[in-house]
Amino acid sequence: MKREGDPGPQPMFNREKSDLKRLPMMPVRDMVIFPQMMSPFIVGRESSVRALEEALAGDKKIFLATQHDASLDDPKPEEIYTVGTIANIVQSVKLADGNIKVLVEGVERGKVAQVTTEEGFFRASVRPIPNRIEPSPQVDQAASRVTTLFEQYVKLSQNLNYDSMIAAVRSDDPAKLSDSVASNLQIPVEEKQELLECFDALERLTRVADILEGEIEKLNVERNINTRVKRQMERAQKEYYLNEKLKAIHKELGRGEKSELDDLKKKIDAAGMPKETHEKAIQELKRLEMMPPMSAESTVSRNYLDWLIAVPWKKKSKEIRDIGVAEHILEEDHFGLEKVKERIIEYLAVRQLVKNPRGSILCFVGPPGVGKTSLAMSIGRATGRKFVRVSLGGVRDEAEIRGHRRTYIGALPGQIIQLMKKAGTVNPVFVLDEVDKMSTDFRGDPSAALMEVLDPELNHAFTDHYLDVEYDLSRVMFICTANVLHTIPQPLQDRMEILRIPGYTELEKLQIAKRFLVKKQREQTGLSEENLTFTDEALTHIIRHYTHEAGVRNLEREIANICRKLSRRVVKEGRGLKVEVTPANVSDFLGVIKYREIWAEKKNEVGLATGLAWTEVGGQVLSTESTLMEGKGRLTLTGKLGDVMQESAQAAMSYIRTRTSTFGLPRDFYRHLDIHVHVPEGSIPKDGPSAGITIATSIASALTRIPVRCDVAMTGEITLRGKVLPIGGVKEKLLAAHRMGLRTVILPKDNEKDLAEIPAEVQANLALRFVETMDDVLQLALEHPVQTAAPGPVPEVAADFHSEAESDQELTN
Ligand SMILES: Nc1ncnc2c1ncn2[C@@H]1O[C@H](COP(=O)(O)OP(=O)(O)O)[C@@H](O)[C@H]1O
Ligand SMILES: [Mg+2]
Repeated sequence: MKREGDPGPQPMFNREKSDLKRLPMMPVRDMVIFPQMMSPFIVGRESSVRALEEALAGDKKIFLATQHDASLDDPKPEEIYTVGTIANIVQSVKLADGNIKVLVEGVERGKVAQVTTEEGFFRASVRPIPNRIEPSPQVDQAASRVTTLFEQYVKLSQNLNYDSMIAAVRSDDPAKLSDSVASNLQIPVEEKQELLECFDALERLTRVADILEGEIEKLNVERNINTRVKRQMERAQKEYYLNEKLKAIHKELGRGEKSELDDLKKKIDAAGMPKETHEKAIQELKRLEMMPPMSAESTVSRNYLDWLIAVPWKKKSKEIRDIGVAEHILEEDHFGLEKVKERIIEYLAVRQLVKNPRGSILCFVGPPGVGKTSLAMSIGRATGRKFVRVSLGGVRDEAEIRGHRRTYIGALPGQIIQLMKKAGTVNPVFVLDEVDKMSTDFRGDPSAALMEVLDPELNHAFTDHYLDVEYDLSRVMFICTANVLHTIPQPLQDRMEILRIPGYTELEKLQIAKRFLVKKQREQTGLSEENLTFTDEALTHIIRHYTHEAGVRNLEREIANICRKLSRRVVKEGRGLKVEVTPANVSDFLGVIKYREIWAEKKNEVGLATGLAWTEVGGQVLSTESTLMEGKGRLTLTGKLGDVMQESAQAAMSYIRTRTSTFGLPRDFYRHLDIHVHVPEGSIPKDGPSAGITIATSIASALTRIPVRCDVAMTGEITLRGKVLPIGGVKEKLLAAHRMGLRTVILPKDNEKDLAEIPAEVQANLALRFVETMDDVLQLALEHPVQTAAPGPVPEVAADFHSEAESDQELTN
């Protein structure tokens, strides 16, 4: 195939000299004329006009070749491509400005062999290059590829007329097809010239197809960009239009956006923010101004500014510094609690003298309803500060204290900042209730955040994630409350001054009810003193039989119940109604008795010992029961017992094994027995070593078959050798024993020192026995001394177990 198209080396020309045509030659700029192509163009150059005239004078054939550099007016022959097209001049029209408009039709390719200059124009000897192609599947394939691609190209390209272009490809001759498509491509002149110089038609077809592919890709990219740009422009225009409209509406309604922003600016200036915060607020305001008023981001920004403005920065309550006033108010609000009140007064005094005393955070620890929160409120009143309270019970997430970053949807400041806003002043009394109930999990440690809040060296620059500016908490008086201490992280405890409120005796509760609770509830339900009175006996009856607590919360609730019922009757029967509550009519209001003095009514039983525990709700009386079963020496414990309690049980067991002979048991008794120890009483988790002697007593009783005295309660840790060690919470435990009507309490000798803080009322009603060894305990707790026990042989114990095992099953089922 090469044979056909290739002009070949010089010798060829010599051989085929007869093929050469001598034609006027016209250089063209910025375009390449292809065979089969109709092209209109303007001719203005003198030399070109001459060549044209020469052609028109002859057979109207002219050789058109592209000049290398379009800017040259007078190109020399060597500055013109040697491959061009022989064309027919179809039309020529002289224009008014002297230029000539011509329409030419390409006939065939030609290669210049020689150029001569004649009267002002070029004449070239041109060898025509035939444009033929042998049909083959390869050619068909290439041709159809070009056709398809060209259609796509025309559709994408905006500069081409679809109909005429499609007409151009409707050629049966693949060779002509390649030229007509090439002539329509929007590519640089150099590339077009290369196509013209490609004499092999198949190769040209392939090249044209490749170029089309590349161009289509470019056009596609361009189109995507264009549509995107267009869409963006449309959106921006729409937004602009809507905003303008909105502004116009606002103006029409007389509440200009501008005045709202001015308003914000005034508020920011008036808020008394520190310099940096103020700057930040102004910066945010500027951002807000730039935002479209109804957009989501402007809402976020406005909310943020509202928070910055609403949090107190400067406003302060005038503090009362008179300690006398404080003393008076504390006395007025609470009965008893002498020591606690004294410590509070001292604390207030120290705070006035020292700026940031160590351990300067008060923490009230005690069971529910003993007045922790209400004491803190009193402190607020006594110092002239506002009062706010947050419950930290169940707080696990640092963000609850410190807030979420503004970037979160619906983000808010944490509890600290929220409550500061509520307080509205920089120096409130801030109660952190239930600090012991806070827990840690994967969302970050809230106690670490709390540390920062409470640390006087850090809290002047507290950072909330939402506010994102430093906030000074140093003038706040923080007060914590907790039911127990041991779950509060030690570093936090170190910051606190701990005040224990263990609970009230029956007499104290009576006084609190008489002086405070009845009055308070009467007022809250709109009753007068004439309407409703309580006898002391009635209140004591309620305390004993309707409540079962260390504090007075339920007591207050029951009194409130009675008041509500009565106010209903007053509404019905008139203001003159007079009722006196006595033990006889309490049940009319409160229903049947809820608690009996069960312990006093119990009988002595084998294996059942009464212990005293210290729990979150104060002191508690807990019975411990042991049963024996035939077995292999296993010790089983049930009833939500902690590890320490399990160890106590092991220690109790070890003690008993050192006393086999005293108890009249075979040395290896435990090999044939399983012992099951159970501590019932609800599902309160129990732990601590103080149940040691109770468990030991219970097991010893089960083994010796000697009943335990049911009116005796006990508490104490036991060692492996049977020594009794001191325990904590004596006051709480004794209050509970007293409350439950027990008569005797066995305590470790080393706890004798705690007697000082036990109310006289309790001491008078309880026989307190201080012991040093487990032997002493058994002496006091068992119905009769061990020595006189009939040493029951093992088979008897084993024979006995059947019935016990059955009852045991019932129990556990
Ligand atoms: N010593 C007291 N004198 C007067 N009222 C008391 C006393 N102790 C508790 N109260 C009252 O008992 C109720 C419960 O007290 P509260 O402060 O809620 O207890 P806590 O915070 O310890 O659970 C409140 O109405 C409180 O005023
Ligand atoms: Mg409370």
